[in-house]
Amino acid sequence: TTARATVDPAFIVGPVRRRTFGSFIEHLGRCVYTGIYDPTHPSADQDGFRADVMELVKELGVSTVRYPGGNFVSGFRWEDSIGPKEDRPRRLDLAWHSTEPNEFGLDEFMRWCKKADVEPMMAINLGTRGVAEAIDILDYCNIPGGTSWSDERRKNGAEDPYRIKMWCLGNEMDGPWQTGHKTAEEYARIATETARAMRQVNPDLELVACGSSTSDMTTFGSWEYTVLSEAYEQVDYISAHEYYYEDNDDLASFLASGHKMSNFIESVVATADAARAAGKHKKRINISFDEWNVWYQKATPSQPPTGDDWPIAPALLEDHYNVADAVVVGDLLITLLRHTDRVHSASLAQLVNVIAPIMTVPGGKTWKQTTFHPFALTAKHAQGEVLQVALKSPKIHTERHGEVDALTAVATHNESTGEVVVFAVNRSIDDSASLELNLSGFGDLEIVEALTYFNDDPYWKASPEDDTSVVPAVNESVALSNGQLDAHLPAVSWSVIRLA
Ligand code: AHR
Repeated sequence: TTARATVDPAFIVGPVRRRTFGSFIEHLGRCVYTGIYDPTHPSADQDGFRADVMELVKELGVSTVRYPGGNFVSGFRWEDSIGPKEDRPRRLDLAWHSTEPNEFGLDEFMRWCKKADVEPMMAINLGTRGVAEAIDILDYCNIPGGTSWSDERRKNGAEDPYRIKMWCLGNEMDGPWQTGHKTAEEYARIATETARAMRQVNPDLELVACGSSTSDMTTFGSWEYTVLSEAYEQVDYISAHEYYYEDNDDLASFLASGHKMSNFIESVVATADAARAAGKHKKRINISFDEWNVWYQKATPSQPPTGDDWPIAPALLEDHYNVADAVVVGDLLITLLRHTDRVHSASLAQLVNVIAPIMTVPGGKTWKQTTFHPFALTAKHAQGEVLQVALKSPKIHTERHGEVDALTAVATHNESTGEVVVFAVNRSIDDSASLELNLSGFGDLEIVEALTYFNDDPYWKASPEDDTSVVPAVNESVALSNGQLDAHLPAVSWSVIRLA
């Protein structure tokens, strides 16, 4: 099968936004404890942060990090997590049926962000708490000094205010599993009033209202409309969350997850714009896709403890990813980039150990999941402007999504370096594809590098023992002549082709 496509420097979708390459650290399982933080580990620095993990976080190219949850945040008392460690209380974490020791908290996270060179994205608790506590944490973080909370921060070692810009107004408040779950009307009220008060402290904050936890929620669509009808002027973003996984041995549908994400994004945009029209608003509300990934939610690693068992940092949600999962992650990144006009921020959930690209052995080594590769290469090479790829692709039939394109692609163009980068996925299980790409609008180009990630067995998984035998490799088939690029893309594969 052959797919024909054209990329032209004039077909700009919008800028490549660094915030598209965000991630997420939740107090969940071993993400924090024995993940980013482990004072007893040989690589730990003076703050107890694992230096080997930090190195991989930098290699991954993460831009923003959302914290501290997730479902965890809806029961979190932020002030438990500051001050001398020996005075910090242990608390029940209802979300994950665990005990939170509060050894790592707000100030540790901010120090970690500084060292990792990432932007924090803070989530506040609108499950068991409300406006007053939101103002308190904002005061602690962003006021230079002279108030009780800001002076407390200085006493705790942070002389300068953190000036955190991006704040999530709660987490998945549409979900019945959420502590303090709300109806759309209830959430719309508390989000609006919290945002209004927060803006009295810092008018230029960037605030994210909760959208839907997945496009499969029965409230999806009406939730967004109700929330934005009330909160429109007070917020900047509406969130979207969605996880994808292979179900019922249906690999074809799973490989088309990007198609589902694309529909989700377009529906949220339509709903936000409908609220804009009805409310006679001028600005546009954009999307913060602040939880996305492959996650096998029905599998054992995702089941929290029960009964009297409230462990500290149990191994939870430790999915081991295969090559097909990585191809889907690459496709989802292509989808986010293709919608860069309205998706202004995104977070791969999560960063370490918990449904994560980076894994640690407690007390031991780190290793890379298959999903690490497409993320790191996209974050590194997507630069400048996102360009539309006008693509005529063969179709494949899927059980869950009907007819979908077998190939999907996006391109980026960095005008200052002249580099053009094409990211492409072949979703077909059975057929390799030829991609014929017209690049004549760019003038003279040469191939800099062409890498493809695939394996004869798409179910091959990386492990602590072997995370290097299947990695993105040079695609020898890629050729360029007279402004036309030809590439052979194997079944179930992700590719990055760089030209300059
Ligand atoms: O990322 C794991 C969980 O998924 C988060 O805590 C929650 O927000 C979502 O349901």
